[in-house]
Amino acid sequence: MRIISVVGARPNFMKIAPIMEQIALCGEIESLLVHTGQHYDQRMSDLFFDQLGIPEPDINLEVGSASHAVQTANIMKAFEPVVIEHKPDAVLVVGDVNSTVACGLVAVKLGVKLVHVEAGLRSFDRSMPEEINRVLTDSMSDLLFCTEQSGVDNLLREGISRDKIFLTGNVMIDTLLNNKAKADESTILRELGLDGDNFAVLTLHRPSNVDDVTVFARILDALEVIQKDMPIVFPVHPRTRRDLYSTSLGERVDGMAGLRLSDPLGYLDFLKLMSSAKIVLTDSGGIQEETTILGIPCLTLRENTERPITVQIGSNHLVGTQTQRIVEAYRRAVKGGPNGHHVPPLWDGRAAERIVRILLDKLSKRPNPLPKVRRDTPRRPRANPASPDGSVLSRSSTGIPVI
Ligand code: UD1
Repeated sequence: MRIISVVGARPNFMKIAPIMEQIALCGEIESLLVHTGQHYDQRMSDLFFDQLGIPEPDINLEVGSASHAVQTANIMKAFEPVVIEHKPDAVLVVGDVNSTVACGLVAVKLGVKLVHVEAGLRSFDRSMPEEINRVLTDSMSDLLFCTEQSGVDNLLREGISRDKIFLTGNVMIDTLLNNKAKADESTILRELGLDGDNFAVLTLHRPSNVDDVTVFARILDALEVIQKDMPIVFPVHPRTRRDLYSTSLGERVDGMAGLRLSDPLGYLDFLKLMSSAKIVLTDSGGIQEETTILGIPCLTLRENTERPITVQIGSNHLVGTQTQRIVEAYRRAVKGGPNGHHVPPLWDGRAAERIVRILLDKLSKRPNPLPKVRRDTPRRPRANPASPDGSVLSRSSTGIPVI
């Protein structure tokens, strides 16, 4: 079986790492890794390959930055010949970036099966480019792997066939658990002159927050207050740096003594920073999940989240972008202290293992040793073909296999 896996932007790298590892371990899949080149800076890309032990991409499409239409089109043009040449049995995409939807579309147009890891997440906010990417990718996919039950529910509501959907857990959390001990050895706190845990971590890169000067200024008003209370470490995304220093906001930020800007950090340093912080403020998706596992309070500077389990568990608070609301939520969260360790179902470090077992079962060209379940047979638990111990496949409340 041959699978082409695709990565393009920073959050894809932590998701693909455990999948590549499990693919290599199973020894039954011929694997090709394609990097679209959507992210290309050393600190946005290479560093993650090195730290997470991801194999060097077999092919780099080197598309770089551009408008959405141009970037998406460039990825499609460059990816199509790769699929034609290598004739994979499936293309596997992760997450919700432009590379995800572009390569997904190429695959299905060529009649190649599409696998989407982190399927079904919905913010229900169509002004987010990622939401368009999620909806389109899911609607094209043949196998959809979900991180949380809301993803399963959303896919079923959109009419996606039940037998394509699997609740397998969270590959990003596989990576976190695999690397936590290594991250604990990072010297980043000392390098940044941080003492103890009395500091906050901030990340901002959503176009709706940083490309809009009014919104960005409102967030800075809140940061102005918070940085007087405790230092804020702010690894700055290239988009955000461009937005800051092409306006007067850059000067304002430079004038805040407690707001410490840095270049984007590598995975291990950032994990160490997050896990040592008193609080995290962010507009990222993945960080909402990582802080949930770490038990660190997270204020999400957005009005919505596609990851509702993090809010239900109680570690994540949606606080929007109004100054007063951010400051009040900050005060409440700091007073409330750490969240404790609540783990969403299946966020146990074994999501990639489950995914690869299902890929082997569903895509394998070998004759399937299992008898086909007849349509008119009442639903009942069946032997789990992917389970090494032959255990029974359990089902979630919606009947979706959970293994
Ligand atoms: C992309 C994803 C977003 C994800 C984010 C993580 C889409 C639509 N957005 O947003 O979902 O959360 O990555 O970082 O796919 N740039 C560099 N160096 C790089 C990459 C980008 O300088 O290595 C700069 C360029 O000026 C570029 C800008 O950042 O124009 C934005 O990059 P782009 O890939 O278009 O989107 P992101 O904001 O990074």
